[in-house]
Amino acid sequence: MAEGNAAGHTPFQMLVRGRRSIRRFLETPVERDKVLACLEAARRAPSAHNAQPWRFLVVDDPAVKSGLVAAAFSGIYSGSKFAARAPVIIVMLAKLDFVANRLGSRLQGVPYHFVDIGIAGEHIALQAEELGLATCWMGWFHVRKLRKCLDVPKKYKIVAMMPLGYAEKRPTREPPRRALREIVSFNRMGSEEGPEHWPAED
Ligand SMILES: Cc1cc2nc3c(=O)[nH]c(=O)nc-3n(C[C@H](O)[C@H](O)[C@H](O)COP(=O)(O)O)c2cc1C
Repeated sequence: MAEGNAAGHTPFQMLVRGRRSIRRFLETPVERDKVLACLEAARRAPSAHNAQPWRFLVVDDPAVKSGLVAAAFSGIYSGSKFAARAPVIIVMLAKLDFVANRLGSRLQGVPYHFVDIGIAGEHIALQAEELGLATCWMGWFHVRKLRKCLDVPKKYKIVAMMPLGYAEKRPTREPPRRALREIVSFNRMGSEEGPEHWPAED
């Protein structure tokens, strides 16, 4: 068992509790080895049938990033312009021509490539957090314009993007989370079963 802090939280628990979506970034460049460490964490993620459908388009050239910002954060997406200040923006893509993902979608009704990208992306976010970097998952951007601007072929689904940088400001408060007892059932959906004492919520 990993060593804990004074409150009894393990390093992993502290990492998870400390991560926030950051929307104010410093212009300080991100070291290339830290970017690579984040991508390596994504590469290690599990995926349905080990298909590894993820592809990562790393935008760190200021001119390319300006183009991305102008294209993807235009019009109704202008609220996403906060990402422009992050020195790196990782565009997360899913390669669609994998049997596992086709079968998953058709037979199970679950598009597993999206699940896979979600896991890999969160590996990036948590690795970034451990390295003192900040991220924000982003789904609100102009997909078609982004595809054109970055020459992304149609066989790749653009799933999300993630700015990566050093935080200028971290929110002091955590957005509210639902209570464990609201989101967890034991043995049968909606049963009254559960631990005598649920963990403290803070
Ligand atoms: C798939 C996904 C898409 C998101 N898209 C956006 C977005 O477009 N813009 C944004 O500011 N935050 C976005 N977020 C961040 C959420 O708003 C944030 O995770 C949530 O409010 C909880 O806050 P926290 O991450 O600080 O714990 C997204 C998060 C996820 C997981």
